[in-house]
Amino acid sequence: MKPIIIVSAIKEEIKDFLAYFKEVKIEKNGNFITYHTNYYSTPLILSTSGVGKVSAAMTTQYLINKFEPEIILFTGIAGALNSTYEIGNIIIANTCIQYDIDASELGFSPGTIPYTDYKTFSSDHKLLDLAKKIKTKNAIHFGKILTGDQFISHKKRINYQHLFDYFKGDAIEMEGAALAHVCTHNNLPFLVIRTISDKADETAPKDFNIFLKKASQNNFEFIQELLKLICN
Ligand code: ADE
Repeated sequence: MKPIIIVSAIKEEIKDFLAYFKEVKIEKNGNFITYHTNYYSTPLILSTSGVGKVSAAMTTQYLINKFEPEIILFTGIAGALNSTYEIGNIIIANTCIQYDIDASELGFSPGTIPYTDYKTFSSDHKLLDLAKKIKTKNAIHFGKILTGDQFISHKKRINYQHLFDYFKGDAIEMEGAALAHVCTHNNLPFLVIRTISDKADETAPKDFNIFLKKASQNNFEFIQELLKLICN
C-alpha cells in the first residue's frame, strides 16, 4: 500500500502527530529525516521541509521519489489576508499561487511560472470534497493561499496591496504553492491545510510565536478527521 505523507515546515507543526503515534521509526537519508508509522493499516510518513519555497520544493521532490506516496498533505500555519478570518480558523487551499514570481516585464502575468501554464495550483478535488465533510470546533474556510519567501508583517507592507487587489489572497505563507507546484508536476494529489496564526499585520511576529503551538493542535484535530475519511 502506498503511504500518505504529511509535511510541515517546522517540527513544532507536526509535534502533536509525533506524540500521538506510539511507534514511530526515524529514517535519516543525508539531511532528510522522515518519521514512519501507520494509521491503522495505511503507512504514514511525516516530514519537515524547512521554511521557504526552495526547502518545500526540494523536500517534496525527495519524498515523492523516495517513498512514492498516494497523496501529500501539507500542514502548518498562515497569516490571514481575508479580514473575515480569525486567528485559530483553519484554511484549506482550494488554490495556491507563488505571489513573488514576477516576470511581467517579459509579458508573463505576475504569479505565472514563465514559459509554462503553471500559475494557480489546485488542490485535489477528491481531497477537497472529503475536507468539506469535516467539522471541528474551529471555523474552516476554503480559499486561496499565497506563497512567497517573506514573513509578511506591517513593516513589510511594500507591494502588500497587490496581495489583496491583484492576487485576491485569503491567507499567506511560505511553502504551500511550492509543494503544490512539485505535486502538480508529478501528477500527485495534494491538500494544503493551514491554521491562521496571525493577521499579517504589525502584531504578526508576536502572534505567530504565541499561536504556533495552538495552531498545530488545530491542524492535528482536522487531519485526524481527514485521515479517517481517506482511509475508510
Ligand atoms: N506564516 C504564518 N504567518 C505568516 C505571515 N504573516 N507571513 C508569511 N508566512 C506566514
